[in-house]
Amino acid sequence: MRKNIVAGNWKMNKTLDEGLQLTSEVVNMVRDEVNSEVQVVLAPPFIHITSVQKLASEQANVLVSAQNCYHEESGAYTGEVSAAMIKSTGAEYVIIGHSERREYFNESDEQLATKVDLALANDLIPIFCCGESLEIRESGSHFDFVTQQVTNSLFHLSEESFNKIVIAYEPIWAIGTGKTASSEQAQEMHASIRAHVANQYRNDVAAHLSILYGGSCKPSNAPELFACADVDGGLIGGASLNARDFVDIAKSF
Ligand code: PGA
Repeated sequence: MRKNIVAGNWKMNKTLDEGLQLTSEVVNMVRDEVNSEVQVVLAPPFIHITSVQKLASEQANVLVSAQNCYHEESGAYTGEVSAAMIKSTGAEYVIIGHSERREYFNESDEQLATKVDLALANDLIPIFCCGESLEIRESGSHFDFVTQQVTNSLFHLSEESFNKIVIAYEPIWAIGTGKTASSEQAQEMHASIRAHVANQYRNDVAAHLSILYGGSCKPSNAPELFACADVDGGLIGGASLNARDFVDIAKSF
């Protein structure tokens, strides 16, 4: 079901104490300031998820996500974390296919499709990330590239499963660079993704899909981005590490 979502991807930041401090600040500010229809999602490192989840459970619209999960169900995979383990902490979301995972850990479209399946099988909502590099944008093939990422990792899903996922469009050239996509660039890509989904499934499946924008989203540009017809919220990196900035973004609808 289409929702407004603001998700904070902490990446590899915050010790446990710092993460809990940030979580309680966010919970208090969300309670007082954010429309209860907006879902605020915190994605801490795996090791903090259980503790963050305990604090977040005080506020119904603050939910917890993992930043990744492994593409096998269980077994001898030292250092990895399964979708079932994430679910058992009370987390409800998992980010899948962030560009940093694709680039530094060589995650392929096929592996990501498996991760999406495992997340859904364990009743987690995948936040599936897609997005092009600067080189691809400059070559003019960015619409095709993103369409292909979505097709390769998501279009094996049944309509019922597809209805449960969230997509995040994150142009790589905008991540952590301070260079945000303009609202026109975000809107046209989000509309293209939605049209592609409508083509594969049905119009109402596309209409019910939440598509988040990510890449240097901050309080100053969030209102313009979130005002776009096909932008349903944001996946926030740097600005999610500060409670005031993050909550101001969540107030930007
Ligand atoms: P950023 O990161 O907001 O720091 O650009 C976004 C992301 O990687 O999800």
